[in-house]
Amino acid sequence: MIKITSSLLALVLALSAHAASVDTLYPNISDPSVIENPPYDSMMHGSKHESRTGPSDGSYNYCSMPHPSVSYYKEPQPVANGTVNANLSALLYIQRHQKRTAYNLFPYGENEHYDCTDSEPFLYLGATNSSSPKPLPVYAATYVDDQNPLYETLTESTCQFPQLTVGGFLDGVQHGQELYELYGKKHHVIPSEPSAQTVWLRSSTASLTQGSAGGVLRGLWPHYNKPLPLHQQIDSIDSHEPPCDYNDALLSASQSTKVWEKHLEVTKTLRKELADMLFTNNSDWNSNFDHYNDNFQARLCNGYKLPCAQSGSDKCVTEEQARQVFVAGDWEYNYYWVDRENVTEAIQLTSGLYIKDMLKQLQDVESGKSTLKYMHHFMHDGDIGPLAGSLGIRSLRWPGMASNIAIELWKTENHETYVRALYSGSTLQSRHGDMEWMPFDKFVQLWSKYVPHDFVAQCAQS
Ligand SMILES: *[C@@H]1O[C@H](CO)[C@@H](O)[C@H](O)[C@H]1NC(C)=O
Ligand SMILES: *[C@@H]1O[C@H](CO)[C@@H](O)[C@H](O)[C@H]1NC(C)=O
Ligand SMILES: *[C@@H]1O[C@H](CO)[C@@H](O)[C@H](O)[C@H]1NC(C)=O
Ligand SMILES: *[C@@H]1O[C@H](CO)[C@@H](O)[C@H](O)[C@H]1NC(C)=O
Ligand SMILES: *[C@@H]1O[C@H](CO)[C@@H](O)[C@H](O)[C@H]1NC(C)=O
Ligand SMILES: *[C@@H]1O[C@H](CO)[C@@H](O)[C@H](O)[C@H]1NC(C)=O
Repeated sequence: MIKITSSLLALVLALSAHAASVDTLYPNISDPSVIENPPYDSMMHGSKHESRTGPSDGSYNYCSMPHPSVSYYKEPQPVANGTVNANLSALLYIQRHQKRTAYNLFPYGENEHYDCTDSEPFLYLGATNSSSPKPLPVYAATYVDDQNPLYETLTESTCQFPQLTVGGFLDGVQHGQELYELYGKKHHVIPSEPSAQTVWLRSSTASLTQGSAGGVLRGLWPHYNKPLPLHQQIDSIDSHEPPCDYNDALLSASQSTKVWEKHLEVTKTLRKELADMLFTNNSDWNSNFDHYNDNFQARLCNGYKLPCAQSGSDKCVTEEQARQVFVAGDWEYNYYWVDRENVTEAIQLTSGLYIKDMLKQLQDVESGKSTLKYMHHFMHDGDIGPLAGSLGIRSLRWPGMASNIAIELWKTENHETYVRALYSGSTLQSRHGDMEWMPFDKFVQLWSKYVPHDFVAQCAQS
């Protein structure tokens, strides 16, 4: 009796701890002044060779976002409580790449020495599809040449920016292992060996996402030793990030609204302090918080420190300033993909063609036209943001490293298909409906709202 009570109590505590941790994914950040008193601690931590020291509890962790994992995954409620008899039949999984170095370095140089001598990013160029000759595998070994005077501004770093770090690669392997435990061993949608009949992989054309794929797929299939196709579209017209003039116009319009002005107003002092210290007094660094976030995130996630003054004084960016930068970045993501005026059209023109690709793939799987069971896409925060928006996410912080969306198809004993959508490991809390268990047709109808009716004409509007 006592035993049952205490294990019940443990269960209740575990469940409520999970609920609380998931809340870190959904804080209310719609007001720009949230940076003054944020409802969560936005500080991020990471070390060079790993990100996580134990199983995730599902809470927001910028450097290594949670993903579906047996440690806290739950079957959809009607299946878990036995009201419905159904099995997982297919999975569409979209993730951001793992942690990396920065895109944005300070205009007058970096005072951090980024070391990538422990990673070997492989390059696969020029192979034919016949069995011989196969290319000799070569990798990029970025080195310092002391004769090059320009190296001084980069403190002799041995990374290409924004290359995946060794910690990002290792995190990818772990991510893959955990996905396999859940979706392979337990739910049988990831096969024990990849096959073209059941597995389909896609990435952007960035070496970052391809590097991530190399890590995650190794985690899934530790002993597989043949090459795998990673599908990509032609870079200049890739549906995951298509060129669209009117979309650029919508972005500018969103940055001249009252609420955007308030965002700039509440961050004015912060931006002045940072610009004075880092010599970042130009519009690239001051019109939004993208660059500061990117630069600070790359440092902290990979075991480096916050930057110090470019003048050589002993002043450095404080944790408090960094926290404000991270919350300001969260606010921007929420604004772009949840709150801004015309958000539906902005999502259509950013990710609508990509959503169309995915809807077609899901419909073919559902109807039996396609035999695929597992589709995995390696993409960017610029994809996860609008996609989460399209699924009606209630609130959105910056989609951190390896943040992910899982679209699960469940088939019932009556041959009906239901969808369950997860954001970073737990059921996506949506304003559009119940993402725990939704009839397939209803899901298709909801998501189709984000497919542009005429992309070319919409982009040509003025
Ligand atoms: C979020 O907070 C704002 C005030 O900052 C409030 O007006 C709004 O109702 C809140 N939204 C939700 C969904 O709680
Ligand atoms: C099972 O879960 C569903 C969905 O939350 C709910 O509607 C139903 O009442 C539950 N049934 C039982 C027997 O708990
Ligand atoms: C190489 O590609 C060609 C053209 O698609 C195809 O006919 C051939 O079967 C491929 N060879 C191998 C070994 O895959
Ligand atoms: C929203 O779209 C309308 C036209 O449909 C336009 O007049 C307005 O300026 C846009 N506002 C923003 C912030 O995008
Ligand atoms: C840099 O800062 C100074 C003083 O704060 C300001 O007058 C100037 O316009 C700024 N320059 C840019 C490019 O923002
Ligand atoms: C689910 O899979 C199990 C094991 O393959 C099978 O016995 C069961 O009939 C399946 N249930 C449904 C609803 O398809």
